[in-house]
Amino acid sequence: MDIKTYLRTGKEAVDSFFQAYFGEQKRPAVLQEAMLYSLFAGGKRIRPVLAMASYEACGGASAEIVPYAATLELIHTYSLIHDDLPAMDDDDLRRGKPTNHKVYGEAVAILAGDALLTEAFCILSDPSFCPSVGGDALMRASREIALASGREGMVGGQVQDILSEDADPDGETLQFIHRHKTAALIRASIRVGGILAAAGEEKIDALTRYGENIGHAFQIIDDILDVVGETQELGKTVGSDEKINKMTYPRLYGLERSREIAGRLVDEALSSLGTFPAAADPLREIARYLLSRRS
Ligand code: IPE
Ligand code: IPE
Ligand code: MG
Ligand code: MG
Ligand code: MG
Repeated sequence: MDIKTYLRTGKEAVDSFFQAYFGEQKRPAVLQEAMLYSLFAGGKRIRPVLAMASYEACGGASAEIVPYAATLELIHTYSLIHDDLPAMDDDDLRRGKPTNHKVYGEAVAILAGDALLTEAFCILSDPSFCPSVGGDALMRASREIALASGREGMVGGQVQDILSEDADPDGETLQFIHRHKTAALIRASIRVGGILAAAGEEKIDALTRYGENIGHAFQIIDDILDVVGETQELGKTVGSDEKINKMTYPRLYGLERSREIAGRLVDEALSSLGTFPAAADPLREIARYLLSRRS
């Protein structure tokens, strides 16, 4: 199967779960509308697909963990709604549509983000969504996702990102920002696949190295696309980082060197999968695809 088809199939599985899960209308209608507006605006669904690919790499059948994997997308979508707010990156376009706060106002956008985050933990704390996985593994995976999303992960990175606007870029801070705001959740997505499949610690360590490296590369490519991408294709406004003087890889290292660094990180990710069987080929293909992506 080629990687585009693989990604599309994974995205369809996640989207069908969301369709069913959010099928019932809840009051107040505008909250659900705002949540689903951003959730269904598009998006690659790369985090749930990585969790499912990692589960497969460890011998599992990905259909068994779709709801668990989907929680990563709920958390990611919440982080995007908040990231776009005027108090943060102040962006008007996301996933090819006006940002959540542009349509629903800041108060509802903040609360829609809060509700998406909370909904993730409603699913994670209900073992009936994942009957083929044992309770201990579910608990460990949930904690993994919580740690990666909060103070020690994405939220910590977002705060450092905001604090570093207008500052002179330095490699150490930049690495901290990227490893926390973006790599933490991507790394957790991959670890969760291994944990749910009851993989041994050696395998989980290898998956962790893979996840850390592709997660870091993912944000470097995001920084590069903000400079060289096309707004239409990207679904977000190109040049947004420069406008608010964000600390990014291209700003510190230039485009060419940033591409080299991302390439090296992907090579490292691939080498950490060395001993995995052919079932890990989708993980290998996703790592390569991330370097060439245009959106
Ligand atoms: C964008 O993430 C924000 C980052 C963490 C770099 P994605 O590039 O995965 O965005 P969607 O989900 O496809 O819209
Ligand atoms: C955001 O990084 C990472 C998140 C945790 C949301 P960016 O601010 O660069 O993401 P985009 O470019 O707006 O998608
Ligand atoms: Mg940001
Ligand atoms: Mg942003
Ligand atoms: Mg960006």
